[in-house]
Amino acid sequence: MTHLPTYGEVPGAPVGEMSRRSFMRRIFWVGAGILSIEFLAGTLNFLWPNVRSGLGGKFTIGTAADIASTQPTWTQGQPFGFSKARVFFINVPASEALVGGSNETVADPGANVLALYRKCPHLGCNIPPLCDKSHWFECLCHGSKYNIIGEKRAGPAPRGMDRFAVTVTDGVYGIDTSAIVAGPPIGTATFDPRDTTTIPHCAA
Ligand code: FES
Repeated sequence: MTHLPTYGEVPGAPVGEMSRRSFMRRIFWVGAGILSIEFLAGTLNFLWPNVRSGLGGKFTIGTAADIASTQPTWTQGQPFGFSKARVFFINVPASEALVGGSNETVADPGANVLALYRKCPHLGCNIPPLCDKSHWFECLCHGSKYNIIGEKRAGPAPRGMDRFAVTVTDGVYGIDTSAIVAGPPIGTATFDPRDTTTIPHCAA
């Protein structure tokens, strides 16, 4: 009877088990898959508009009384800076009275309000708070000037200050920043006809 010679273990994986090379290849592709998913998720998260909390969404400011409790001078015409929506919230009759000198207090202007966008319609600088000297909004970048209701009075801006739609529901003000309403065209200012050269300004 003839016996076949034996030469130790047969190299390679036993039947039914994974070779080292196959195992490493699978690990590689699983890792690459996880990395791809993370990259894709991160990119989508970055590109997806943050419409709930950022500009582009709807914001609730509160009632006129709420605003007045935060900033009492709003009832005397001083714009209320609402930073979440990047607007100056204007109590129109009180603001006109402030500029006109009658200093009337308007506790609740109803729907007679404006949400003026702080982004300058010239080249996009952030418009600073109302200039105390002129009672105008004056962009410090290139000197565009707007009266207290956002109508253009001077400088290179192509129009008045842009604005957002305002809603009033049961006395509660809301601002919808999903659509920018273009500011009034040049030459259509209806308020505050003071000569820009004879009043002091904050911007050159
Ligand atoms: S960006 Fe405001 S005047 Fe140019």
